[in-house]
Amino acid sequence: MSRIVIITGANSGIGKAAAQKFALEGDHVIMACRSIQRSRTIQQALIRNTGNNDITLMQLDISSFASIQQFVQQFTERFEQLDLLIHNAAYLKHGEPRYLLSEDDIELSFATNVVGPYLLTQLLLPQLGKAKQPAILHACTTNIKHFFDPKRQIEFDNMRGEYANQRIFNSYKLYGDSKMALFLLTIKLAEQVKEQRIRVNALQINRVKLSPETIANLSARYRILARLQNPTSQPPSSMADLYYDICTSTNYRDINGSLINHRGIVMKAATSEKPHPFQLIRYLTSDQYYPAYATNRTYLDQVWDFCEQATDTILSKQI
Ligand SMILES: NC(=O)c1ccc[n+]([C@@H]2O[C@H](COP(=O)([O-])OP(=O)(O)OC[C@H]3O[C@@H](n4cnc5c(N)ncnc54)[C@H](OP(=O)(O)O)[C@@H]3O)[C@@H](O)[C@H]2O)c1
Repeated sequence: MSRIVIITGANSGIGKAAAQKFALEGDHVIMACRSIQRSRTIQQALIRNTGNNDITLMQLDISSFASIQQFVQQFTERFEQLDLLIHNAAYLKHGEPRYLLSEDDIELSFATNVVGPYLLTQLLLPQLGKAKQPAILHACTTNIKHFFDPKRQIEFDNMRGEYANQRIFNSYKLYGDSKMALFLLTIKLAEQVKEQRIRVNALQINRVKLSPETIANLSARYRILARLQNPTSQPPSSMADLYYDICTSTNYRDINGSLINHRGIVMKAATSEKPHPFQLIRYLTSDQYYPAYATNRTYLDQVWDFCEQATDTILSKQI
């Protein structure tokens, strides 16, 4: 029997390349996409290119609790189990000047990149528990290197718009905060679901070619930058291959709660939140260390508690 794989944001960039890779390997791919209309032609092209008819398109806005619940209901009506869950979709709009809230009143990058993935995972744990070798993968970024700066903190006090009008808004900073939070969630979730044999890891993505649609969505300044960077960036298929390896290869079978770099190497935590300047240079110039911020129990619990409280009314109904 083929594996069932959910890939969020599978209509573009790395997610689309991953849908192609898993389909070519014979898996049943669920493309969980925000717009059915925009994704339908991609689904049809993937079916043609791979010769795999088991590519299912389902609507999911990962920033919306209502959409996540509806997606899970439809998924569980059709599928008994889930083998792999790949949280690839993300919100980043370089140059966006406004602090935006999701429809559930959570800062939009946090809603899309952290709380939505948390809720989707929690609701799908029973299906993942039925799989032979279940795994979850989170798409992270090298942007989390900014947390080597001891002053850098996730803005937990501003997740509901508390300081939206008082603090300077920087969409790139909030994206980085949300991706660090996603990595913290990876570590904590891996601990929580270990007994269910579910592996949870994160991939630190470096610089991958952006799709024309993604570039068109950027502000003018970042559009120019992206066009200049694109020729020297890696193709999306390189990360898609890594998604596949991390989720399925025996090389990663014992890897859990880890951050893996874009070369497939399991990264190590820096030893101190305030590294000596020489050590800091070593950390910043190597691609094998992540900030010790991610090992701090206070922050790990803070992310978990925030997600738990934000989704409490939905998850308490499940018990
Ligand atoms: N490319 C890079 O250099 C790079 C570097 C570091 C990390 N990453 C990470 O890699 C992942 C893939 O990035 P990419 O470069 O392939 O980006 P991309 O081509 O812009 O794809 C992003 C995908 O996320 C989807 N998405 C956004 N908001 C969503 C929502 N609310 N609900 C459902 N889907 C939503 C988009 O759907 P729509 O088409 O509907 O907008 C799109 O399919 C992301 O997690 C990103 O943070 C990428």
